[in-house]
Amino acid sequence: MHKPFEREPFEPKVSIVTGGASGIGRAIAVELIARGSHVVLADIDGEAAVRAAAELGSLASAATLDVADAAAVTALVRQVVADHGRLDVMVNNAGVAIGGLLEELDERHWTKALDVNLRGVINGVTAAYEVMRAQGSGHILNTASLAGLIPAPAMLPYTTTKHAVVGLSTALRAEAAGLGVRVSVLCPGFVDTPLLDDIYEAPASFGGSSVRSRVRLLQPRFLTAELTAKRAVDGLAANKAVIPVGAMAHLTWRGLRYAPGPTRAIIQAQASGARRLAQRSVAKQRTH
Ligand SMILES: NC(=O)c1ccc[n+]([C@@H]2O[C@H](COP(=O)([O-])OP(=O)(O)OC[C@H]3O[C@@H](n4cnc5c(N)ncnc54)[C@H](O)[C@@H]3O)[C@@H](O)[C@H]2O)c1
Repeated sequence: MHKPFEREPFEPKVSIVTGGASGIGRAIAVELIARGSHVVLADIDGEAAVRAAAELGSLASAATLDVADAAAVTALVRQVVADHGRLDVMVNNAGVAIGGLLEELDERHWTKALDVNLRGVINGVTAAYEVMRAQGSGHILNTASLAGLIPAPAMLPYTTTKHAVVGLSTALRAEAAGLGVRVSVLCPGFVDTPLLDDIYEAPASFGGSSVRSRVRLLQPRFLTAELTAKRAVDGLAANKAVIPVGAMAHLTWRGLRYAPGPTRAIIQAQASGARRLAQRSVAKQRTH
C-alpha cells in the first residue's frame, strides 16, 4: 500500500506536455528537461511542436495531437510508453481562451471550451491514469487557472471549464493516492503568452481594445511563463495539491476563503467594469 503523504524524490524520466509548443507548456517542458526527463511536446500545431523540440535539445521530441480526440490521446500515451518504457509525468496543459459577456457567446464558444479545456484534460487524465496505475507511480499535472479557483466574470465558458479541472484534479488526487499516482493542479493568474492575443471567436465587445490592456486593469503585471513553470515543477516535486501562481492568485483565492464578502465585492466591481468596457467598445465600433 502506498503512503500518500510520504515525500519521494521527484526524478521524472519520461513526460508528456500537451500544448507543449508554446507558452506555459513549453516552459514546463524546459523545467522537466532540466530535471533529466525526456519530454514529448504534444500540440495541435505539430510544426510549432517540432520547432520547439528542436530548440529544447535531445531530451525533447514532438507529436501532433488534438487533445479533444480521445482515441488520439490514448494512442499517443501508449506509443510513448512503448517507446520509452514508462510515463512519469503527464501535463494536461493545452487550452484556449474564451472571453465575452454571456449574452455575446453562443454554442461555439461553449463547445470549444468544453472540448479542449475540459474534455482535453479528461482525455489526458484517463489515458495517463491507465498507465500510471499499472506502474504504481506517476504524477498528473492539470493546468487550470486562477479562473478555476475564483469566479471570473466575462469569460464564463473558460471559468466553468477551469473550475471543473480543479474539481477533477483534487478529487482524483484523493482517489489515486493509494495507488501511488499523484495529481496536482496549476492555477496561475494572467501569464504573458500568445493565449492573451488569441481569444477564440472574440465577440464584438472585444473589438478595438487589446485584451492585454483589459487584463492590466485586473492584474497590472503579467506573470512570465518561465516563473509559472518553475512554480509548477517545484509544486510537483513538493507534491502540492493546488499550485496557485502569482500574488493575485494567492490573494484572491485566500481572500475568497477568509474574507468572502470583500473579495466578492471586488469580483462584482470587476464584472461591472467588464460590462462598461464591453458597451463602450461596441458603441465605438458602431460609430466607425
Ligand atoms: N496565459 C494565461 O494568462 C493563462 C493563465 C492561466 C492559465 N492558463 C492556461 O495555461 C494553458 C496554456 O496556455 P498558454 O498561456 O501557455 O497559451 P499558449 O497559447 O501559449 O499555448 C497553448 C498551446 O495549446 C495548444 N493547443 C490549443 N488547442 C489544442 C488542442 N486542441 N490540442 C492540443 N494542443 C492545443 C496551442 O497550439 C498552443 O501551443 C492553458 O490551459 C491556459 O488556459 C493560461
